Amino acid sequence: MKIAILPGDGIGTEIVAEAGKVVERLRRDGLPIETETAPIGGAGYDAARQPLPEATLAIAQRADAILLGAVGGPKYETLPRQLRPEQGLLAIRKALGLFANLRPALLYPELVSSSSLKPEVVSGLDIMIVRELTGDIYFGAPRGRRVNATGDAEGFDTMLYSEPEIRRIARFGFEVARKRKRRLCSVDKANVLDTSILWREVVTAVAKDYADVELSHMYVDNAAMQLVRNPKQFDVIVTGNMFGDILSDEASMLAGSIGMLPSASLDANNKGLYEPIHGSAPDIAGQNKANPLATILSLAMMFRYTFTRADVADRIEAAVRKVLADGMRTADIASAGEGVTGTRQMGDAVVAALS
Ligand code: IPM
Ligand code: MG
Repeated sequence: MKIAILPGDGIGTEIVAEAGKVVERLRRDGLPIETETAPIGGAGYDAARQPLPEATLAIAQRADAILLGAVGGPKYETLPRQLRPEQGLLAIRKALGLFANLRPALLYPELVSSSSLKPEVVSGLDIMIVRELTGDIYFGAPRGRRVNATGDAEGFDTMLYSEPEIRRIARFGFEVARKRKRRLCSVDKANVLDTSILWREVVTAVAKDYADVELSHMYVDNAAMQLVRNPKQFDVIVTGNMFGDILSDEASMLAGSIGMLPSASLDANNKGLYEPIHGSAPDIAGQNKANPLATILSLAMMFRYTFTRADVADRIEAAVRKVLADGMRTADIASAGEGVTGTRQMGDAVVAALS
């Protein structure tokens, strides 16, 4: 089990260190895990003047799975777009063909009061967002800046999906739904966008192979509203790169905190990059405040999807449940009056709960 560890920037290094303690513990228990660590994002720029240094990509390519922290920070905000930390993340997703991004929004019963919505609206929440990750307006060309005929500056991007790209993520979404409650909601903007009209046609065609899964379609604005109105209507959501980016941040708050949401980004062979969905949080970096649970839960997903060791994934997830049941809370998930735990203490508690 070769794992590339890419801590990145800001709280990335702290939360990955806590997941590293879990890795270390599993290794001592006998799992044949090898790790290699490399810089990405701003750290990549500092080390090699590239947000995705060639050496880092090589390490990621020869690994079976990648654990990533987060990228970005104020120090890098003035760099040209191609050198910014976020480009490192986009480049590694593209280079490794990680087209299928799984973002589960699961509310642990202990965190019901951390959610911004009423308990009856969110308790028992269990949604899986399947976000296409290597296409759409994130990668479409042409893009750029120009000056128009009247001398005004313009910025432009291209939203673009090919039929095979849509078919591939649609199939993936149906397969995921098949292993859950067999309900798939495809989210698009087919009332306005040509890209989305094609998206809807292709998803509808793929549905013929999945008669056992109930397919629905929803416009993205309505989906954003339904997620806070009645989120439990959803089982699996499949959507494009940009809509998935936005809806998954929204869904994270239903689950109490963005600090709880892991993700898996998979290629066609289940090689994967695993990362929390949150960012590098420079405002709390280096203060032992960040919640390491999303990263630790990302590691659990790695064992579930890439290493097909559901037993190990279950064990990690059970340890997370136990520390929550024991009342451990980082600041982001603490309700008024609850004591607050630091990043390192939370990591140690998870490791202790693994036994
Ligand atoms: C995410 C992030 C990234 C994205 C950024 C950091 C490039 O928001 O993983 O959701 O937009 O995909
Ligand atoms: Mg995002």
